[in-house]
Amino acid sequence: MIRRCLFPAAGYGTRFLPATKAMPKEMLPILTKPLIQYGVEEAIEAGCDVMAVVTGRGKRAIEDHFDISYELEHQIKGTSKEHYLTEIRSVIDKCTFSYTRQIEMKGLGHAILSGELLIGNEPFCVILADDLCDHRDGAGVLSQMTELYNKYKCCIVAVEEIEIENSNKYGIIAGDLIEDGVLRVHNMVEKPDPKDAPTNLAIIGRYILTPEIFDVIRETKPGKGGEIQITDALLAMAKEGKVIAYKFKGKRFDCGSVEGFVEATNYFFDKEKDNLEA
Ligand code: UTP
Repeated sequence: MIRRCLFPAAGYGTRFLPATKAMPKEMLPILTKPLIQYGVEEAIEAGCDVMAVVTGRGKRAIEDHFDISYELEHQIKGTSKEHYLTEIRSVIDKCTFSYTRQIEMKGLGHAILSGELLIGNEPFCVILADDLCDHRDGAGVLSQMTELYNKYKCCIVAVEEIEIENSNKYGIIAGDLIEDGVLRVHNMVEKPDPKDAPTNLAIIGRYILTPEIFDVIRETKPGKGGEIQITDALLAMAKEGKVIAYKFKGKRFDCGSVEGFVEATNYFFDKEKDNLEA
């Protein structure tokens, strides 16, 4: 059973400026819930109860969100508005949160390495909260992946097919099909030009990693954009047959982009409108 889920959340979210000037991108709401809460709920559903968050400067709102607000509790206790807090209270009850800071933004691989002390020597999940996933009629994406982990006991990246002209926004994998929807990865390239992309299978913000990854990241040289890329570290492990890619069931929204954010808002509004108050 994987208990820990890491949330790299130190990025600047420049594509959402000025909204993200004084507020973390992960706190942007889809309807009434911040992105990171969707991620934490997905992790809880997958069986995790320890959330490890890698934050940076200006991200205090994340810690406050997953804490009791005594003033607010006092104000609305016993009123008709109390139910607005039911969901977040239940999240706080079900898991614990720990935080560390990534001092310099040196890439996703570096952010994951910054979380090492919060994870220890265990396999763990990673959620990038700005990739919002939903599987309307079934298990969440992370649950699907933890089930697969029980079978393969190796690193897993979630992938989806993209338009090849967008390959330069993603880590792209190539591999051999080992069962329906599952590939043993043999190549990975970070943000290749479409002409250099080995396939159209893009890594999205869900990973299961074994603790060996920390040593591998330590050995990984800065890559694309001068950042320490998790894709490069995983490629080293893939060469030893230790990485699989999983074509998840469900939908994924890139809420780090304005277009994906609006799409997610419309999708969740359509899904939840009967539960929202006028
Ligand atoms: P992104 O590149 O999508 O996020 O990184 P960003 O940098 O915040 O957004 P833009 O491009 O400036 O708009 C993917 C994820 O990795 C985390 C980010 O917080 C995001 O969840 N990340 C990235 C870190 O935690 N540290 C880093 O050094 C880089």
